[in-house]
Amino acid sequence: MSKIKTAFFCQNCGYETAKWTGKCPSCNQWNTFVEEKVQKDVPLRQQEWKTDSPKAPKVVNLDAVEGLEERRWLTPDAELNRVLGGGIVAGSLVLVGGEPGIGKSTLFLQNALLLKGIKTLYISGEESEQQIKMRADRLKIRNDQFYLLTETSTQVIFQEIKKLEPQLVIIDSIQTLQSPLIESAPGSVSQIRETAAEMQRFAKETNTPVFLIGHITKDGSIAGPKILEHMVDTVLQFEGDQHYAYRILRTIKNRFGSTAELGIYEMSGEGLRQVSNPSEILISQRDDLLSGVAIASTIEGLRPMLVEVQALVTQSVYGTPQRTATGFDLRRLQMLLAVLEKRGGFHFGVKDVFLNIAGGIRVEDPSIDLAVLCALLSSYEDTGVSHKYCFAGEVGLSGEIRAVNRVEQRIAEAEKLGFDKIFISKYHKKGLDFSKLNIEVVPLGRVEEVYRFLF
Ligand code: TYD
Ligand code: MG
Repeated sequence: MSKIKTAFFCQNCGYETAKWTGKCPSCNQWNTFVEEKVQKDVPLRQQEWKTDSPKAPKVVNLDAVEGLEERRWLTPDAELNRVLGGGIVAGSLVLVGGEPGIGKSTLFLQNALLLKGIKTLYISGEESEQQIKMRADRLKIRNDQFYLLTETSTQVIFQEIKKLEPQLVIIDSIQTLQSPLIESAPGSVSQIRETAAEMQRFAKETNTPVFLIGHITKDGSIAGPKILEHMVDTVLQFEGDQHYAYRILRTIKNRFGSTAELGIYEMSGEGLRQVSNPSEILISQRDDLLSGVAIASTIEGLRPMLVEVQALVTQSVYGTPQRTATGFDLRRLQMLLAVLEKRGGFHFGVKDVFLNIAGGIRVEDPSIDLAVLCALLSSYEDTGVSHKYCFAGEVGLSGEIRAVNRVEQRIAEAEKLGFDKIFISKYHKKGLDFSKLNIEVVPLGRVEEVYRFLF
């Protein structure tokens, strides 16, 4: 009998070596290598997905390739269409990552049930048929073209697929799949790679879209969907704070559209609800003036969104002041504090600083800088900023307020929501006409000027 081949895989990034090593040469993590049996003693590639008539590969001239019109299905879920770049593309392989319990199964069960007239196969290795039925009952959606398979072996899955010939396949989750070609346990790097590769071949050969759901943990300690990112067409990330109802579906990679897209949902008792106007829910409505609060006019994807920034600046009790940021990059907060210290003469060095983006969302748009800065100043001075003001500007290291993209759209959103003033950079391109607006546009050049306008 021939020897079973094994290899060592980094459980963090999927790097493969023949010998055990303490530190991964690829991602620099320690103690992440685990030995996995790579192949069973079966003739190679015997049991995987195969079509009946394999096409012989040949060189073609690009002009001679028939331009197949990209087939897309629009789902009833506008947020999902948006992150996919305009609907589900035929033959695409989409990976959806997210922490356990965030709502991935709910989202895709709900969408599959909503897609009427499309034969969908939902393959679950995590829940029983009864559990999925209970969930579907809770969602109160019925669909007679929805099929369920609770199975983890890809061999059995492909047999069933051949019988059913579904038009859409959803796999929940990739970590539970098992290929008979690989001996290691489900969820290991070699299994994830092999099963995803089989799904990829299936998707491309039959032109069926396949969604792979995958778990990731905060520290990325288990072999996660990270190792698959280069193999799939689209990577979506479902995120949000479990303690808040809001969930964000972000595009990380997309071969068929922009990666700056974002879908917003609210988890309710009856599944996920689309949020089409996020600004109204992200800003808390109140009448009294509070210190440490400022509103930013941000753009996530193509959509303007007003978010509330909250800061708390207090006297530090310990020698080393604390800095905590939720929903905002901590290093960016430290940079803004350093700018305020150096350019504005504020002594944040002896203060604890806490920063929070309301609603449990995470903002990456740098235009939020100015609002963060104002929230910090407001808490430092313990004086409220009028809640009729909003901000859109990036702050540079030398204390200049930098121009941001699509400022007209940000101003329009602020105007629509009834703000009186919006503070932007004075370095925007000339020729923008703000005179006809119902909102006052205040251009700022430097951090030092901000204080004068605020209080
Ligand atoms: P789930 O989709 O199982 O998460 P994942 O597949 O990402 O692990 O859903 C997780 C949470 O969603 C669970 O705690 C219950 C909650 N939930 C609702 O609040 N409302 C609903 O209608 C459903 C179906 C789930
Ligand atoms: Mg699940």
